[in-house]
Amino acid sequence: MIIVTGAAGFIGSNIVKAINERGEDTILAVDDLTDGRKFVNLADRAIADYMHHEDFRARIRAGEDFGLVSVVFHQGACSDTTEWNGKYMMDTNFEMSKEVFNWCQARKIPMVYASSAAVYGGTADFREDGTGELPLNVYGWSKLLFDQWLRRRAGRLTAPVIGLRYFNVFGRRQDPAGAYAAVIPKWIAAAGEGRSVEIFGDGETSRDFCYVDNAVQANILAATARVPDAINQIYNVAVGDRTTLNQLFAYIREALRSYHPGVEEITALHREPRKGDVRHSLADIGKARSLLGYEPTHTLRDGLHQVAAWYAAQTRAR
Ligand SMILES: NC(=O)c1ccc[n+]([C@@H]2O[C@H](COP(=O)([O-])OP(=O)(O)OC[C@H]3O[C@@H](n4cnc5c(N)ncnc54)[C@H](O)[C@@H]3O)[C@@H](O)[C@H]2O)c1
Repeated sequence: MIIVTGAAGFIGSNIVKAINERGEDTILAVDDLTDGRKFVNLADRAIADYMHHEDFRARIRAGEDFGLVSVVFHQGACSDTTEWNGKYMMDTNFEMSKEVFNWCQARKIPMVYASSAAVYGGTADFREDGTGELPLNVYGWSKLLFDQWLRRRAGRLTAPVIGLRYFNVFGRRQDPAGAYAAVIPKWIAAAGEGRSVEIFGDGETSRDFCYVDNAVQANILAATARVPDAINQIYNVAVGDRTTLNQLFAYIREALRSYHPGVEEITALHREPRKGDVRHSLADIGKARSLLGYEPTHTLRDGLHQVAAWYAAQTRAR
């Protein structure tokens, strides 16, 4: 059995989908399962059971076993970069990660967990072992603390632990709703409905946008890594390419053109820059390439075409 926390969320459900397609394993899905979309995300056949994350936490704290577990993909977290409630963020992200780690180590179970590019703050140095600046938001701190806490345990591990620092992952099953939804699903949904998109700042902010299949690939490689140099490491997961929000808007219009002929008329409205947003983000993926054998299969534009087709199919199905 494989455990996936955050299994009803965007990346977690795509990991579940990939495991499902391999057809070899059953999954224990952990999430909070509060809305309808999440039940849709949990429709994959491989899911043998699901558990509310509070229940899961209580049971792992009590030392319960769940059968023969081969790996835990720990994706569950509060990923809202505008959440300033430090107590809540640290409990959900840092404390829960420690609990999952302790449970895995006591049973010699490998763990692959989601870290974030947010740990790098406003730096221009995006190497995993670089001397970046400090995070700009509580979310980034919660992820950095766990990365650093693990580093102190490096010499005493009983099973591999691999952290993946995702850079702006996007793709199918990403929620476009809510005030703090990620930019790509939000803009595609807006443009598809003929609404303007909002750009915070001048649009020259840039990101290393990473299609979700690349992130899933990194997870699978991490879970199966056995080379001593590759395990117990943290890796950047991205494409290694930088795109401004103004360019992104043009690419989204291009990807949507065949589904929404009126998309050229959509305009971008510029708003005040948001507190806690970094100006530029560009990953160095050399370490993942050389140690994990990670090679992104989708560029930003490839991914946007996939997402545009997925949203169009979703809209038709409604
Ligand atoms: N999407 C990105 O670009 C990105 C970038 C950097 C890091 N990450 C990290 O990747 C992971 C997955 O992100 P996502 O984009 O799929 O976000 P998401 O919000 O779609 O998924 C996270 C899921 O975790 C669940 N969850 C919240 N608290 C939980 C808990 N305590 N235990 C178990 N589940 C819990 C949520 O209900 C949600 O379904 C998160 O850890 C996030 O911080 C994502």
